[in-house]
Amino acid sequence: MQEFTKKNKMVDLIHSNYHLLPVIHRFGFRLGFGNKTVETLCDEYKIDTDFFLTIVNTFQSKDFFPEEKLLTFSPLLIIDYLKRTHQYYKVYSIPRIEKLMNQLQISAAEQNREMKMIEEFYREYKTKLLKHISDEEDKVFPYIVKLVETPTQIENKNLQLSFEEEHENVDLEIDDLKNLIIKYISPRYNELICNELLIEIFRFEKDILNHARIEDTILIPQVKQLQLSI
Ligand SMILES: [Fe+2]
Ligand SMILES: [Fe+2]
Repeated sequence: MQEFTKKNKMVDLIHSNYHLLPVIHRFGFRLGFGNKTVETLCDEYKIDTDFFLTIVNTFQSKDFFPEEKLLTFSPLLIIDYLKRTHQYYKVYSIPRIEKLMNQLQISAAEQNREMKMIEEFYREYKTKLLKHISDEEDKVFPYIVKLVETPTQIENKNLQLSFEEEHENVDLEIDDLKNLIIKYISPRYNELICNELLIEIFRFEKDILNHARIEDTILIPQVKQLQLSI
């Protein structure tokens, strides 16, 4: 897939990949771009063009992940982006999946074992995911901000941070959730709702995998580097 540059028009980014819409909004851009380029809009919105493009391009292609370049951005910039992403999950993705899950359940002719299993699995998944997000926001991110802004006040210089295992679990579970629906749902359900639900889960999965990759391979190495330097 095409790699975008600052000379591209923002409108063309969306035409070439509408999945970028939430990412673009996450940075604070509002539609109504006219023919403005990425560079012009980033200047107007006071957004780091290079950072924006790097994130957008990682969304474009799984194979595009310029680790060295990403490592050069400030952890504060990365945390800000990650928090906006969390917000999107909390305000949009999770409620939307939940709403569709409820509708799907209502659409089933009768309550059956399979639907119940899907529902319960989803509830557990959601609880774990929200706990993971709030751990990051309440403990991990503030620690990193402190490490950057007031390193002398850090009490635990050797705090070991790793989300990898939790990320893997969250990952596997979302895969299981899809499979529970695709393989085991009992046939009396509303297919329109079910399609929407699955599409939403696939979309969410793509987003969160990218998110976790940034945390694991960029933010954590940055933290280790910062810890070594104080
Ligand atoms: Fe996160
Ligand atoms: Fe995470």
